[in-house]
Amino acid sequence: MKITVIGAGNVGATTAQRLVDKQLANEVVLVDVIEGIPQGKALDIGEATPVEKTDVRVVGSNTYNESANSDIVVITAGIARKPGMSRDDLMNTNSGIVRSCTEAAVAKSPGAIIIVVSNPLDVMTYVAMKVSGFERHRVIGMAGVLDAARFRSFIAAELNVSVEDVNAFVLGGHGDSMVPLPRYSTVAGIPITELLSQATVDRLVKRTRDGGIEIVNHLKTGSAYYAPSSSAVAMVESIVRDKKRILPCATWLQGEYGLRDTVVGVPVKLGKKGMEEIIQIKLNADEQAALAKSAEDVRSSIAKLKI
Ligand code: NAI
Ligand code: 2OP
Repeated sequence: MKITVIGAGNVGATTAQRLVDKQLANEVVLVDVIEGIPQGKALDIGEATPVEKTDVRVVGSNTYNESANSDIVVITAGIARKPGMSRDDLMNTNSGIVRSCTEAAVAKSPGAIIIVVSNPLDVMTYVAMKVSGFERHRVIGMAGVLDAARFRSFIAAELNVSVEDVNAFVLGGHGDSMVPLPRYSTVAGIPITELLSQATVDRLVKRTRDGGIEIVNHLKTGSAYYAPSSSAVAMVESIVRDKKRILPCATWLQGEYGLRDTVVGVPVKLGKKGMEEIIQIKLNADEQAALAKSAEDVRSSIAKLKI
């Protein structure tokens, strides 16, 4: 098993470290455009392997030669929004970056499964799918696992229970129109709607929607990367170990949930073939309307893309 992580910044380097710590590959390759950064970080992660007793080769590079024949490629390259930048500015800059990374990566690893992390997530997943020419089951976006993890951690803290017993689903796009689903969020199998007041559920839903910006406001110079890297690695692990976990992931829809030609987060089964099945759960009218709106927001962004 060989995994390439593109972008050796906060999310990329932490993802590489977690992959190595969990020994999910024999070889992890870190690629970035900045000279020295992927080399230095790969060396540092590799030097921890004797201590951690993890037999993984870690390589850093500014080119894609070392990435050849990767089984999985995780794309984290891109910039975050800066003051004065619109979402469209971010979209156009990152679509160019994700386009070039995808082209270079698939030229060397035509059989890989791609996991996209770069923002805006749903649109970048579309870019990677379009540019790679891969079928949809081999290009999957990471957002729902992170958004659900945030929701789970807030629920656990509110009820003073172990995070282990809390499950949650957050569907839709990774942005203001994401769709947390309290009815499908449970503590030891009990829906949170039976354990918390509506006002509390609404507060936790809002905090989940604002989860990314809450961390940006603390850090001031960057965005979250510990939980995002854990979330990307959970997806990788389900694929590498063919675990067939059901996780909320961004995928190209072709009629599922009544939606077509757009990327949005829905529950999927992840196994060795990538996105092996889209699980269609029953939504009530409000949930379906919220998912459709979120999907429409992504579709209109895709229409503005200059690729
Ligand atoms: P960062 O700024 O720490 O790292 C980004 C890295 O990408 C930099 O090292 C940069 O040199 C590299 N890069 C830029 N252009 C490249 C290219 N053409 N080829 C290879 N590398 C290139 O940013 P961070 O925090 O790692 O975030 C990365 C991306 O992930 C951002 O777009 C961010 O918004 C997104 N993100 C998405 C999340 C999600 O839930 N989907 C969660 C967290 C971050
Ligand atoms: C987050 O939700 C920045 O998308 C990233 O933290």
